[in-house]
Amino acid sequence: MNANAPLNVLAADANPATSLEQRYGAAMPSLGAAPNAVIESLLGHRTVRAFSDSPLPEGTLEWLVASAQSAATSSNLQCWSVVAVQDPQRRARLSVLANNQAHVRDCPLLLIWIADLSRLDRAGEKTGIATAGNQYLEMFLVAAVDAALAAQNATAAAESLGLGTCYIGAMRNHPEKVAQELGLPSDAFAIFGLCVGVPDETRPASVKPRLAQSAILHHEQYRVENEPAAVVDYDQVMRGFQRSQNMKEVDWSAQSAERVSGPGSLSGRDRLVSALRALGFGLE
Ligand SMILES: Cc1cc2nc3c(=O)[nH]c(=O)nc-3n(C[C@H](O)[C@H](O)[C@H](O)COP(=O)(O)O)c2cc1C
Repeated sequence: MNANAPLNVLAADANPATSLEQRYGAAMPSLGAAPNAVIESLLGHRTVRAFSDSPLPEGTLEWLVASAQSAATSSNLQCWSVVAVQDPQRRARLSVLANNQAHVRDCPLLLIWIADLSRLDRAGEKTGIATAGNQYLEMFLVAAVDAALAAQNATAAAESLGLGTCYIGAMRNHPEKVAQELGLPSDAFAIFGLCVGVPDETRPASVKPRLAQSAILHHEQYRVENEPAAVVDYDQVMRGFQRSQNMKEVDWSAQSAERVSGPGSLSGRDRLVSALRALGFGLE
């Protein structure tokens, strides 16, 4: 891909019939091929952490942001912003703050998604209307949800262009330092990063299977009965996936419980409430 290449259409997988099988391992009864190229592209998602040196085609950033802005947004408040980091030195500094992840340093474009109530503060200043509601947890949640929906639209758009992405939750490991690096105003929080680039074809990523729908989808009321069998199956599916990727084998249930085993397993984010308050959020 070169910078002057046209932005082209939906890149569906070569073999659409396998998309459900890959998404669930063997656990999903066949629904047949995906009904259209959008769904096919969504089912083909995989996180990409290895990028080629190719630059992004011209216009990529603007199309991704237009896609992001096309997401629904609570009350049309648009409580999010995005900082596009292309300066390699800034990316390197942000990589250090995000647990030294190499892809943060090496991707050509790092998008930092901001849960942003500061624009509403400024709307209040402009109009003389109080914005004390921004001091409540509800408004932090509104901004966080808005930012996530926008980012996922950008991700789907990037993948439709044949690009790869990797979310970076580790951007929350040092919120105040990240805010300083990005020059964020008060009431703005870098909720996660998103690496974007052309996937390195020599180090391709694979579709990672998900839990069976029986563990996730409930009809009318939440029921836990189907979950234990689905989780036992999924532990095996993930072991098979890990084997195929030459990764250490571990049950998903054990790995996932471990991830929330205590404050020490949160990569410093156990102090998020105090960090957010320091950044201006009241969280009342
Ligand atoms: C909000 C969020 C934060 C994430 N943070 C990181 C991260 O810091 N580093 C990383 O390599 N992957 C990160 N990921 C990627 C997940 O590990 C990945 O989505 C998950 O393992 C499922 O794999 P898949 O996306 O390939 O299907 C993050 C994903 C999300 C949604």
